[in-house]
Amino acid sequence: MQPGAEALVEESSREFRVATRTYRDPEIFQRELDAIFSRGWVFLGHESEVANPGDFKSTRIGSQPIILTRDDNGEINAFYNACPHRGTTLCRSERGNVKAFVCPYHSWTFRTSGELIGISDRSRYPDDFPMDDKRLHRIGALANHHGLVFGSISADVPSFADYLGAGARHLELWAGRALGGRYRAGTPHRYLYRGNWKFQAENVLDGYHANSVHGSAYRTIRQFPQRFPGTDKSRAITGVRKEGETCGYPNGHGMLGAGAALETGNVPEEVKLRYRASLVERNGEDVAREIMNNRHLLIFPNVCLMDNNIRVIQPIAHDLTEIYSYPMLIDEAEEPINAARLADVQARVGSAGVVNLDDIEIFNSNQTAISAPGLEWITLSRGLGKEEVLPSGERIGAHSDETPQRAFWRAWQQRMVAAEAA
Ligand code: FES
Ligand code: FE
Repeated sequence: MQPGAEALVEESSREFRVATRTYRDPEIFQRELDAIFSRGWVFLGHESEVANPGDFKSTRIGSQPIILTRDDNGEINAFYNACPHRGTTLCRSERGNVKAFVCPYHSWTFRTSGELIGISDRSRYPDDFPMDDKRLHRIGALANHHGLVFGSISADVPSFADYLGAGARHLELWAGRALGGRYRAGTPHRYLYRGNWKFQAENVLDGYHANSVHGSAYRTIRQFPQRFPGTDKSRAITGVRKEGETCGYPNGHGMLGAGAALETGNVPEEVKLRYRASLVERNGEDVAREIMNNRHLLIFPNVCLMDNNIRVIQPIAHDLTEIYSYPMLIDEAEEPINAARLADVQARVGSAGVVNLDDIEIFNSNQTAISAPGLEWITLSRGLGKEEVLPSGERIGAHSDETPQRAFWRAWQQRMVAAEAA
């Protein structure tokens, strides 16, 4: 008999610890797909990926294939990627534009708004064969927040705004960098690593690891600046900054902020000044400064807004994870700013980025070590009892505290326990 989730995360005044089986047990992974992915909000994509009528992308909520489309009325829809005839995966392409979806098995045809509009050799069905209910099935809930599209398989979820709670402040600041306009998602970097999905979810908000893991990468950036035209060199001069804060939120979201302005790289000074002036004009000096701060916002469970890219963490197995990293360009920004954003994602945090590769190596080695018998618990206690706790439930810690990781695991445990009771 497997232990319930109550026994997998333990918190006291002196320690916060997590059972290592949460990373290595295939049965717990299956329970996560239900409790964490099928019963709550999950990121589906950015609206710019389906900018025009007929545009679609294939994605997943946990292991469930989903189609995101924009229909002829301009509405965004999310359907199960399953043909109602015999259940075949309807859409096999990653992305594209179609007039209608044609099932590869027997060629039933569906509008991008989901209606069944064609059955091949229709005459062999009863004349009154019901077609209305053979439409593509919508998922339970859909929300579009600043162009970020989230969906839920279950309809029994709080509004997305309630789910985000006080963490919405950071999403507003992230959106503010787009100068009142829109972001545009670039083609994602896509790669696999041999490790549990939660290693990456913990890592994107980990201010403790950067100097240890990425020291050589930042020395490389410093030594070969021309190879990193989009990267903020001030980070490379002093190593990774240590000022800034971490935040954790009741539904598992978290934020890692480093207090350093981005949009630098090799952007000409006058372009930087115009961009900053525009931020100040729109938002005032104080908010503009916050907008320019380095910020990683994890929206539980598996998407992280990382300044100039969005990283999506797709679980495949307990020890296999797929990452999609989308460079995010700004429609209203001048070309050198977008060039720097793209160059930084490619050189630093993309699939072959010097910083990203360090982390992937760590995830692989975590999985190897944690799968060996002997280590039953890991500890996430840095900053425990030293954080500020606000009435909203928001907790604020120092830059290297494990505040966001604890928020993640508290929500993980609540969701797993709730699913066990359901
Ligand atoms: Fe789709 Fe038969 S399974 S048309
Ligand atoms: Fe890292």
